[in-house]
Order: sequence, then structure tokens, then C-alpha cells
Amino acid sequence: MPSSLKFSLFFQCIFCIISLISTKSIHLLDSLTPSELKQVKTIVNQSICSTISCHNDNLSFHYVGLNEPNKETVVSWLSKQKPTKSPPRQAFVLARINQSNHEIIVDLTDSKVISNKVNDGHGYPLLNLEEKDAAVLLPFSYAPFFASIKKRGLNLKEVVCQCFTIGWFGANKTRRVVKVMCYYLNGTVSLYMRPIEGITVTVDLDEMKIVGYLDRVVVPVPKAEGTDYREGKPEKPLNSSSVNSTRMMHGSPNFDMDGNVIRWANWKFHVAFDMRVGPVISLASIYDLEKDEYRRVLYRGYISELFVPYMDLTEEWYFKTYFDAGDFGFGLSASSLVPLKDCPKNAVFLDGYYSTKDGTPAKIANALCIFEKNAGDVLWRHTEFSEIRPDVSLVVRMVSTIGNYDYMVDWEFKQTGSIKVNIGLTGLLAVRATKYTHKSQIKEEVYGTLIAENTLGAHHDHFLNFHLDLDVDGHDNSFVESKLQAKSTPDKRSPRKNYWTVVPKTAKTESDARIHLGSKAAQYLVVNPNKKTKIGNEVGYQLLPGIVASNILPYNDYPEKRCGFNKYNVWVTRYNKSEKWAGGVYTDQSRGNDNLAIWSLRNREIENKDVVVWYTLGFHHVPSQEDFPIMPTANVGFEIKPTNFFEHNPTLGLKLHG
Ligand SMILES: *[C@@H]1O[C@H](CO)[C@@H](O)[C@H](O)[C@H]1NC(C)=O
Ligand SMILES: *[C@@H]1O[C@H](CO)[C@@H](O)[C@H](O)[C@H]1NC(C)=O
Ligand SMILES: *[C@@H]1O[C@H](CO)[C@@H](O)[C@H](O)[C@H]1NC(C)=O
Ligand SMILES: *[C@@H]1O[C@H](CO)[C@@H](O)[C@H](O)[C@H]1NC(C)=O
Ligand SMILES: *[C@@H]1O[C@H](CO)[C@@H](O)[C@H](O)[C@H]1NC(C)=O
Ligand SMILES: *[C@@H]1O[C@H](CO)[C@@H](O)[C@H](O)[C@H]1NC(C)=O
Ligand SMILES: *[C@@H]1O[C@H](CO)[C@@H](O)[C@H](O)[C@H]1NC(C)=O
Ligand SMILES: *[C@@H]1O[C@H](CO)[C@@H](O)[C@H](O)[C@H]1NC(C)=O
Repeated sequence: MPSSLKFSLFFQCIFCIISLISTKSIHLLDSLTPSELKQVKTIVNQSICSTISCHNDNLSFHYVGLNEPNKETVVSWLSKQKPTKSPPRQAFVLARINQSNHEIIVDLTDSKVISNKVNDGHGYPLLNLEEKDAAVLLPFSYAPFFASIKKRGLNLKEVVCQCFTIGWFGANKTRRVVKVMCYYLNGTVSLYMRPIEGITVTVDLDEMKIVGYLDRVVVPVPKAEGTDYREGKPEKPLNSSSVNSTRMMHGSPNFDMDGNVIRWANWKFHVAFDMRVGPVISLASIYDLEKDEYRRVLYRGYISELFVPYMDLTEEWYFKTYFDAGDFGFGLSASSLVPLKDCPKNAVFLDGYYSTKDGTPAKIANALCIFEKNAGDVLWRHTEFSEIRPDVSLVVRMVSTIGNYDYMVDWEFKQTGSIKVNIGLTGLLAVRATKYTHKSQIKEEVYGTLIAENTLGAHHDHFLNFHLDLDVDGHDNSFVESKLQAKSTPDKRSPRKNYWTVVPKTAKTESDARIHLGSKAAQYLVVNPNKKTKIGNEVGYQLLPGIVASNILPYNDYPEKRCGFNKYNVWVTRYNKSEKWAGGVYTDQSRGNDNLAIWSLRNREIENKDVVVWYTLGFHHVPSQEDFPIMPTANVGFEIKPTNFFEHNPTLGLKLHG
């Protein structure tokens, strides 16, 4: 189909958008398509299997993603009116070959491997689903495990197991092992609420065999009663009319999609799916009515890593210090969104693709949804002339289920120019079985809250690090910390004794931009010192953090060193395409020598340069009884907000299309 025909069809038929997606030409930042993933598999196999025997798991894929062109290439290519030959499509592959970590770059345009490096540093790539599935079955052909289950009077048929990464606690030599822990169903769907405590199975993933077994202590399995959270459980109907989700949702998508480029109200951005980080927002630009042009805001934004340390020191728990993206794949763990429940009626769904262990592509249907949101809020109002604008926004949503936890990620685009990110934490707590059935019995440190009989909800944190490559009106930007400082009134100038004023400080190098948020009043801005408003303010965007929850622990322990990025709430680095994941490339059993804290030590110059902001959103969780048997969603978030970016309120004169 010639592209002019595609375009006219596009405008004639807004509701045919979906069917057109598959025929659109590929955008430089599009996720790898299923046929490209297949091509990666073939090229890697041809290149690798001619040198080693690929039988018996000598080659396994752990991550395949787009190796995007450099920013300069992308920006200049997109700025051309008539794009010339596009830069080559490339894939970045993390594979285990012959039991070592390989980083392979595959050129899909020329169909060849252009580099294949062994990384003999510490740590291992994300687990693939196939090896997790194989590992959790091993106890079921292991005699000592049968004996442990029998000893507890349990029925083996009702046992299910899950596997967990083991962290790193100073060992000089490591193997790629995980710990397998098991749960008891027998009358519940809520397996995570019924741990079989005391048994730890250690599995070597490269050998795929059990290499350690510990049955340390017998603790009662929490009872099934009260753990089931499904609909149809005893409900007390309320007298007032109950919520009817069908009635709440109405309308059509009301935005335009050209491939994966979305245009809605004054926004334009590209959306992609990555098996490691999930949703990736790129090239977000906002239309300025005054200037009659789109202005750049966010080059690339995504969750670069999630660190989830538990605070329980018992043998079966101390190691639980997970990196949810680098260990398990935040995108790989995406759930298929359920229409009308996960997303409203007007939502459009996008599928996500990933590579399985042998490189074959697999689909996560409805991995992302995009919808216009009208929650009944007011964008702005004033009474005299009764001018009121409803707050209608556009949301890109994904849900990732990492074992027991569900993370709902919303990227919300507002007509005011703000991008709001919300994380909803729900799903099931990780609980430890205990002999205690009442708080009064507890005389020792139990590292959590008794949330039901025999059930302890362990204290833990979630630290989500966001990669925010802001390009405010161009790529040379500066980071400014504007402190609100109290001053005493100079003699007799005023009857007032004190006031506060703003003291801005521009960060010269990376070390100036390591920020602890919290008690001090300040604004954190990314400005473009080369662009000013008509009345002379530097154009900027500010990072508006939500509730601040920082790491509480000293940095003398392995998990904190491995994480690194939660040493500060905000970091700013110089743009470097290779620095994508704040916890490093290999987080499983990492030792903290490749992470944001290490990169920042280079102390590069960042004033009026292309900079990346890394922001860690924290959440301390002290479980409570309401989190049993399933957690009501807890919401945390932040916003990036235009600050002297526009000449005035940018929504004046803005008409919603559709
Ligand atoms: C591949 O697997 C076979 C069988 O497990 C093994 O003997 C061999 O050493 C492995 N490595 C290579 C490079 O073939
Ligand atoms: C595979 O591993 C073996 C044992 O470590 C080594 O001798 C061999 O050279 C490796 N082969 C390749 C192709 O890396
Ligand atoms: C399993 O469930 C059945 C039916 O509810 C119950 O009779 C039995 O005692 C349970 N077994 C165990 C070991 O909990
Ligand atoms: C690791 O090796 C160093 C130096 O050889 C040694 O001092 C240390 O005790 C070892 N650590 C462990 C956990 O074995
Ligand atoms: C609900 O309505 C019933 C009957 O109209 C009434 O008896 C009851 O008190 C009401 N319950 C509540 C909680 O208002
Ligand atoms: C919800 O509203 C829709 C549309 O008005 C209606 O068809 C449906 O029966 C309602 N569902 C319930 C449970 O009341
Ligand atoms: C690679 O190709 C060989 C045949 O050359 C085949 O046996 C093997 O299963 C393939 N491996 C993968 C990962 O596709
Ligand atoms: C870019 O980052 C990678 C990974 O941290 C590093 O090896 C490389 O030296 C960096 N390049 C520059 C120019 O800083």
C-alpha cells in the first residue's frame, strides 16, 4: 500500500486506526516486532551455533530489546521532512552461552551479529519464564521434599512452588542459583497467603538441578479460611445503588494513533513496550498555541529499576532483596489487561512481545491500554463569568504482576503540560507463616505485623527508579535546585520580622545534583538556559515529588550497596545511551559495581548539557490487617510540570478534538 493512500485512509476513518497499525512503517523507537524477534533468534543461532553446540541449553535468551539509535540520530532523522534511508534497526540481546553472560548486538537490516561480548563481571541476567517454570517443578521429584511435606501432614498435590532470586551477601564465588519456596492451596486460590514455612530448596539454573536443601523448622500453615478474595464470596449489599462500572464508562477512544505515535489534545508522544522495563514513553512534545509548534519535553521516560528489600532476618527471608525489573522483567511480568475492569470502555489496547528462552517471540495480549480519563475533576475555574474547564487527560497504563505483587503504572498526560506518573500497589503481600495467633503471644522481633492468625506481613520497601531524559525545548539543559530560604527583614524595612525568598543554584557537575528530598523546601527544575520566555524567565520543567520515602538504612550492608540508586532521591547524569538501568545490567547477585551511584562518580559536567534525571519513588510498607487477604491499592506518584515553559496558562484557547 503506498503511504499516501495509507494517510488518506487514516483521516477518513478514525475508527480504522487499529487495523492500520500493522501496515504502518516502523518508527525508529518502535519495540521489536514479532518478526524482528524471530530474525534475532535466527541470526544469533546461526552465528553462535556454528561455534558451539547449541544443544542441551548451551544457549538461552534472557533479554531482547531494541538497541535504539543515538539520540542525535533519532532527532535529526525525525526532523527531516522527507526521511531518507532510516538508520539500521538493531537488537540488544542478553544471552547465556556456555554458562557465561553474553551481550550481543544484532543488526536486523544487514542480518548479522555486529558484536558479541562476554561480560565476566558479577551478576546474572533476568530469569526467563521457562527456567522459572522448570525450577519450581524440581521439588516434585525430590525425595527429601516429599518427606518434609509428609512430616507436616500436607497433601503434595495441593503444593505449588515459586522461585526467588537470592541477593548477594559477600560470597567470593557465586553460581546462578535461586531459592524455591512452596505454598499450600487446599481450598484457596490465594497461594501466597499459605506459605509452607521452613523449607528452602536451592536450584542451580544453569544445571537445572537441586543443589541445596534445608528443612529447618515446622510452623503451622496459615488456614485457608478468609484467604479467598474472589467475587461471589459472602457479600453484604449496600442499600445505596452499587457502583456500575459499565455505566461509568462511555465514549470512544478520542485520540489519534499513527503506528505507535499518539496525538491527543496538545500532546504528541511515542509509546513502546520493553520486556525489562515495561512501558517506554518517548519523544513527548507539547503543542504551544502561541508559537504554533510542538516543543520537546521528555525524550524518554520509563521505570529503570525497582528495588524491593524485605526486613526479615530469618533464614528463609533475609535474602529477599529483589530487583523486580533486572531479576524478573517488569515488562515480562505484564498482565493481559481486562477490558472494563483494568481499563475503561474507551480504552485502546496494545500487545507486548518478548523473546522466550530459545528466542521464539511470545505475545502478551493487551499489555498496555491507552484511554482518555475524565474523573470529574476541574482543570481550572473561576466563578465571576462561570468559566470552568473539566480536567480531561490521557492515560497509558500497564500492570505488572511480579509474583505476589501487582504494580499498576499510569503515565498521565495533562492539557496543562504536566505528565503525572502514578503507581498503584496492590495484589498479595508476601507473608511468613508463624506459630502466633494473637499479638499478645509475641515476645520476640517478628519483622512484621500479625495480619491474620499464623500470618505475618513482613516489613518491606519499594524503591522505583525512573529514568527521565528530559529535553526541555531542546537537548542542552541544566539542573537547578531552587531553595526557599528564610531571611530576616533588614532593619525597619517592614513591620514583618521574616520572609522567604528563592535561592537558585545550577548544578555544574553530577556531584552537585545528588539530592536528598525531604525536610527542606525547594524546587527542582530542568531548565533550558538557551531559551527564555518573552519576559525573560528560563523555560523549564520541574520535578514535583510525591510523598518522600527514602532508604532508612546505613550503606554498610550488601543490598544497599548493590542498589546504589536509593542513596539519593534524585540524581542527574550526562546522557549516555548505555546507561539505561539504574541497578546495572546484571542485577541478580550483582555486587554494586555497575549502577547509577557508580556512573555518577565520573562526575561529568552537566551544565547546559544533555542531561538525564533519575528519580526514586519510595514506599515503605508496614502491613496492616486491611492488606489481608488482598491489598487495597496504595497509590504513590510524582509529576513533571511546566515552569515558565509557556507564556501563560497553556490551556487557554485549547479545544479538545473529537
Ligand atoms: C554444550 O552442552 C554439552 C552437553 O551438555 C556439553 O558437553 C558441552 O560442553 C557444552 N558446551 C559447548 C561449548 O558445546
Ligand atoms: C565453553 O566453556 C568451556 C569450559 O569453560 C570452555 O573450555 C570453552 O572454550 C567454552 N566455549 C566457548 C565457545 O565459549
Ligand atoms: C484440605 O482440605 C480439606 C477440605 O477442606 C480438609 O478436609 C483437609 O483437612 C485439608 N487438609 C489439610 C492438610 O489442610
Ligand atoms: C573473599 O575473599 C577475600 C580475599 O581473598 C577474603 O578476605 C574474604 O574473607 C572472602 N569472603 C568470603 C565470604 O569468603
Ligand atoms: C437498608 O435498608 C433496609 C430496608 O430498607 C433497612 O432495614 C436497613 O437498616 C438499611 N441498612 C442500612 C445500613 O442503612
Ligand atoms: C449497569 O449498567 C448497564 C447500562 O446501564 C446495565 O445494562 C447493567 O444491567 C447494569 N448492571 C448492574 C449490575 O446493575
Ligand atoms: C539453533 O539451531 C540448531 C540447528 O542448527 C538447533 O538444533 C537449535 O535448537 C537451535 N537453537 C535455537 C536456540 O534456536
Ligand atoms: C557510557 O556508559 C557506559 C556504561 O556505564 C560506559 O562504559 C561508557 O564509558 C560511558 N561513556 C561515556 C562517554 O561516559
